[in-house]
Amino acid sequence: MLFRHILVATDGSRFSEAAVCYAMRLAKESGAKLTIIHVANVQGYVEVLWHDMKRRYREEGQRVLEAAKEHCQMEGIEAETLLEEGVPYQKIVEAAKRLDCDLIILGSHGHSGLEKIFLGSVAERVVGISPVPVMVVPPDTTVI
Ligand SMILES: Nc1ncnc2c1ncn2[C@@H]1O[C@H](COP(=O)(O)OP(=O)(O)O)[C@@H](O)[C@H]1O
Ligand SMILES: [Mg+2]
Repeated sequence: MLFRHILVATDGSRFSEAAVCYAMRLAKESGAKLTIIHVANVQGYVEVLWHDMKRRYREEGQRVLEAAKEHCQMEGIEAETLLEEGVPYQKIVEAAKRLDCDLIILGSHGHSGLEKIFLGSVAERVVGISPVPVMVVPPDTTVI
């Protein structure tokens, strides 16, 4: 078995979709477990807005995860979903350690979509601190 447990991170962007498709395929081929993580980025809001924003971000995250999970189900692939809150790159790496994942898969960019920049900031930071291999999937990657 190539990989035991793959963690794929999604922010719901088209870049993340490429990563999820790739992760699905790799999980299927290697017989690995697949977990899809989304981190609701709820930092920096003043206290009064906190609860409302937190709820909205959590709901949006839940939708993103459901859509990714449905995509997997259509391909006959079982996937767990995980919704976290906090600093995305930290939570992604923490989850990979906690769940004993042996591979993290990310899109090259996300919602900020600054494609001229070499790598998105979350992707760059995960690559920088992850103790396990990280695979960065470029957009429009064809999955046969
Ligand atoms: N909040 C998040 N939750 C889960 N994964 C994320 C999140 N933000 C980014 N990612 C992952 O990191 C990849 C790159 O996104 P990012 O580095 O944020 O690029 P950008 O700076 O263009 O937004 C995404 O395709 C996704 O795989
Ligand atoms: Mg981003």
